[in-house]
Amino acid sequence: MTFSDNPIRTSAIGQMLISSRSLDEYRAMFRLTDADLARRILDCPGGAAGFTSAAHARGGDVTACDTAYFEHQPKELAVLATAEADRGNRYVRTHSEQYEWTFFADPDEHQRVRQQACQQFADHIRRHPDRYIAGRLPSLPFADASFDLALSSHLLFSYSDTLDHEFHVRAIRELMRVTREELRVFPLVAVGSSEPYRRLDELLADLRAQGISGDVVTVDYEFQRGGNQMLVCRHTSAEQR
Ligand SMILES: C[S@@+](CC[C@H](N)C(=O)[O-])C[C@H]1O[C@@H](n2cnc3c(N)ncnc32)[C@H](O)[C@@H]1O
Repeated sequence: MTFSDNPIRTSAIGQMLISSRSLDEYRAMFRLTDADLARRILDCPGGAAGFTSAAHARGGDVTACDTAYFEHQPKELAVLATAEADRGNRYVRTHSEQYEWTFFADPDEHQRVRQQACQQFADHIRRHPDRYIAGRLPSLPFADASFDLALSSHLLFSYSDTLDHEFHVRAIRELMRVTREELRVFPLVAVGSSEPYRRLDELLADLRAQGISGDVVTVDYEFQRGGNQMLVCRHTSAEQR
């Protein structure tokens, strides 16, 4: 398989989930400070996360980008996202041993928080469709350095059982192209696994050769067991910006 195919093949969870994480989860996974939330942010993939809506409500400048926005109108996405939050919750309930029950006390709380975030997303995309841009990594519809900070959660590494190494390198390069300062990717483990991406050293070397540094940073959030690290990428020379 090549990166350009990027088919939605079956992973541990079945078809790739269009999930709905909340602002609180984004803050914790990406160690976002108030100063970070004041930057121009790209959330890719945005999925049906409540992050863009909640950050926008507190005055932030966030754009979500996802391939699902090509395929579905906002109304359909709202319905689909609710069903997807239920599907994600069913997986969590039936694979409860793969999760740490600290951020969420139990699967009921997980369900409630994700459905709430999903609702925020559904309302926001209807009122502010300009904040939700259809795009498909590894090629994004933004000019160079359009954002200060890019966030990428639960696509890269999470689906490394279906997305190949070349896709990861191309996607990170593309996210860095549209980012002036920094990219944060979370988590480093695949769905159903607690081991970090096995070709991480090779990936970091590939990126270094292309003027991108990568540091693994441990964060306070761990829901999926072993998923408590993010990759922070920065440009190493001005020419790359
Ligand atoms: C598990 S969701 C994560 C959504 C959100 N970041 C969150 O954490 O709740 C994965 C998302 O990746 C999107 N996706 C899959 N392939 C993509 C690609 N090549 N480019 C952009 N988005 C993609 C899917 O449509 C889906 O919404």
